[in-house]
Amino acid sequence: MNMYTAMEPGSGWPGLTSLDSGRSVDAVFISGGGSGIGRAVARLFAQRGWFVGLGDICPAGMAETRDLLPAGSCSVHILDVRDPAQWAQALAEFSLAAGGRIALVFNNAGIAFGGPLMELSEAEIDMLIAVNFRGAVNGARAAYPHLRAAGPGSCLLNSASAASIYGAGGISIYSATKFAVRALTEALDAEWLADGIRVCSIMPGFTDTPMLDGPANAASTRQKRDAIAGSGRVLLPVEDVAQAAWDAVHGTRMHTIVGKAVKKMDLAARFAPGYMRKKARGLLAARG
Ligand code: NAI
Repeated sequence: MNMYTAMEPGSGWPGLTSLDSGRSVDAVFISGGGSGIGRAVARLFAQRGWFVGLGDICPAGMAETRDLLPAGSCSVHILDVRDPAQWAQALAEFSLAAGGRIALVFNNAGIAFGGPLMELSEAEIDMLIAVNFRGAVNGARAAYPHLRAAGPGSCLLNSASAASIYGAGGISIYSATKFAVRALTEALDAEWLADGIRVCSIMPGFTDTPMLDGPANAASTRQKRDAIAGSGRVLLPVEDVAQAAWDAVHGTRMHTIVGKAVKKMDLAARFAPGYMRKKARGLLAARG
């Protein structure tokens, strides 16, 4: 069951920015809005005049996000992205709160178990696929009628990852789910063109959020942050990713790559796959 707390029910929101010139009301629904990247995107869009819908499985996280936003600029919806019915209900309620038009859905909720494939439990593998991929499919399907009704310029933004550029050892299933999200993005970009709906993704490198806290999986004592530090990677500030989400929505690219190292990786994967393979093997060895 969805809990719903609208700040200004039914009143709409006089947005200051617009995806499509000529429109005055913009509203964004953010799954995984209770933490990390979703929270940073909520802050940025709300600061820039958007009405924000937060969807998350964690009410406390959403309350914290809400308290960081300008008063009256958001509504809060309990949502487990694995459940299509909860998606439908959350977006119906958000649409009412936003005055009937949802210009943007940010399909962002995700989880990250890592470690060697054989160390993961069956439950962890199923959960990764259910949240990161099936959850994104559910979000896309629930968003479609709202985005189509919103008209040209509406947008579905998906959270892919640097891990969707080249298969990443040590986070194999996570990486595979992000490849799937990338494929979904490209496929829907074509499918929804005639409806005037843009579909795009952000692909950030490792970003400093609570997703990186704790061990990689239930059987491991190795901390995710230690593994990342061991590979020499520098974490991106979450604000950079929020800005990239803004740029993605307001630009024309299908995939917005975030982080210098990730941009290099993307070039290598496309133009020097042999080098990329060597580099990926080396990074994995360094992570241990
Ligand atoms: P986070 O852990 O800070 O936030 C994720 C949010 O998703 C949390 O509020 C959590 O409660 C929510 N969530 C988890 N399962 C859910 C479910 N079943 N239904 C609804 N909400 C659920 O993580 P972060 O870093 O903000 O990640 C957001 C997205 O960005 C994820 O899709 C992640 O894969 C992606 N990403 C993260 C990177 C990183 O290094 N932090 C890098 C690249 C992509």
